[in-house]
Amino acid sequence: MPDGRLMEGSGHGKACNMLESLNEMSARQTIFERPIVLVGMMGAGKSTVGRRLAGRLGCGFLDADRVLEERMGVSIATMFDLEGEAVFRDRESALLAELVNANSSVLATGGGVVLRDANRALLNDRAWVVYLRANAIDLWIRTRRDTSRPLLRGSDARARVSELLTLRAPLYEAVSHCTVDTGRQPVERVVDQILQQLQSRQSI
Ligand code: S3P
Repeated sequence: MPDGRLMEGSGHGKACNMLESLNEMSARQTIFERPIVLVGMMGAGKSTVGRRLAGRLGCGFLDADRVLEERMGVSIATMFDLEGEAVFRDRESALLAELVNANSSVLATGGGVVLRDANRALLNDRAWVVYLRANAIDLWIRTRRDTSRPLLRGSDARARVSELLTLRAPLYEAVSHCTVDTGRQPVERVVDQILQQLQSRQSI
């Protein structure tokens, strides 16, 4: 697959679609008890997968970074430039608390949301948390042409992605209720796997 990007549409048969519908119906009962929050590194596909997942479930989708940008009237990169990362993290935490408590929908978070203990505790307690996992090479390939991410600016973004992943992978694992490899899979297949995993949590 060129460029390591998630691809849409992956050739599903009718039987497969019927099974998915059943899975989705029962998954929905579980799911609407709590919002589904997608966590993972920059480039993991949280926004793309989240939008599609919400579409399949017929519920709302929010991307926390986009909400913050709308409210502040500037990009995340500008927030980092003007106020620094610590202030951004405060804003991110406050918004997370608001969105997790206010919505029973699908929420994509910024990759660093797991850094704070309080965010992880809130997420684990109040949401269904799905870790979209990918390896450092794929993440770098997906983010390398994007200049909007302040933490990946500079000449050695590849090493930076790797460092951040090493630091954060245990946090993503700790906070999440299930993990789905995004790898180079089509978006639909990632969504199928999320729904299957959430459905299996009904028996817990
Ligand atoms: C960040 C990830 C970004 C954004 C900010 C910081 C991080 O979101 O919140 O640039 O610390 O990993 P995405 O994961 O949506 O790129």
